[in-house]
Amino acid sequence: MSDKNIPSHLFKALIEREQKGMLRKLATNYPVIDFCSNDYLGFSKLGLLSKKLETLNQKQESAYGSTGSRLISGNSTFIEEAEKQIALFHHAESALIFNSGYDANLGLLSSIPQKEDLILFDELVHASIHDGMRLGLAKNYKFKHNNLESLKDLVQRHQKDFKNIYIVVESVYSMDGDTAPLIEITEFIKPFENIFLIVDEAHAIGVFGKQGRGLCNALGIEKNCFARIYTYGKAMGCHGAAIVGNNILRKYLVNFSRSFIYTTALPNHSVSAILNAYQLLIETDQKDVLQNNISYFYSKTSGIKNMIKSQSAIHCLVVGSNEKADTLEKKLAAKNIYAKAIKNPTVKEGSERLRFCIHAFNTKQETDVLIEQLLK
Ligand SMILES: Cc1ncc(COP(=O)(O)O)c(C=O)c1O
Repeated sequence: MSDKNIPSHLFKALIEREQKGMLRKLATNYPVIDFCSNDYLGFSKLGLLSKKLETLNQKQESAYGSTGSRLISGNSTFIEEAEKQIALFHHAESALIFNSGYDANLGLLSSIPQKEDLILFDELVHASIHDGMRLGLAKNYKFKHNNLESLKDLVQRHQKDFKNIYIVVESVYSMDGDTAPLIEITEFIKPFENIFLIVDEAHAIGVFGKQGRGLCNALGIEKNCFARIYTYGKAMGCHGAAIVGNNILRKYLVNFSRSFIYTTALPNHSVSAILNAYQLLIETDQKDVLQNNISYFYSKTSGIKNMIKSQSAIHCLVVGSNEKADTLEKKLAAKNIYAKAIKNPTVKEGSERLRFCIHAFNTKQETDVLIEQLLK
């Protein structure tokens, strides 16, 4: 196949993907029973957030365009006030809002570590962290997933050759649902003055900690982190992200983080959604409902072979091939259950899986139907 206006490698790459069963496709008609979305607390699906926003008599909060980047015309006292509230909630000196978690990681990892620095990252960190490192100047090495010995070994081997070391982990891993050994990592780095911890809390906000403050809060290590990333497109049911840390970090990002500087700021109605999602964390007991549902799912599935152990809202059954993952996804869809096949190249070959995201709105009956299918 060829077309004068399209480079031939596009055809080739797509055909190759299709032949390997790896072709990604957009879908719209999702099965009704949701074990897939990141809306863990149901803030979006149950309309909790939209109801709350409707009741507000907002003027500037409802503006639909921010009119520019934060450094040109897109800043406001409203967004700065929001950042102060976010910082307060997460027990940090300051917060800086980004347009998405992807942008936040890109802007952080590409601007902070320098040529003479080293980044050590868990091998399962999110693509946005990889992309941020690719844009930056620092050398980087991966350590084995959740393996403190592997991390220690890299520190010992390379420490003398670099000025600063940044360790990057996720508190909850998006493809496995397991949690990083944050206490052990913070204990290990305590004696080093030049090792800094960055924790992506994308899948922990709303799920762990007091009023959903995240895993760093639950473990009492908020102050041991150099930077924490909170995203709002998951349990918070809206969109955007914030990096929290000290005042110098915020000032530096405003000056050097390109994904913050060179993009139109979030409009005030998006910022208002974020603030209202925080209010819902405080006012509702959706987190407790979610935790009960997680415990129920875990108690029923922990005996199933190849389930990855997890206390979070993300649970996975490893099936070992793209084909098997697709087949199981289809079987569940036939029962109106939406759970996603996570395939290679998103995960390593041989670790292809079905991922189940547990929500506050999932009923016991829905969970039972899902488990019955898995046991089959
Ligand atoms: C760990 C992690 N970090 C960052 C992101 C990106 O966040 P956003 O969807 O807000 O761009 C994701 C999204 O999947 C994620 O799982």
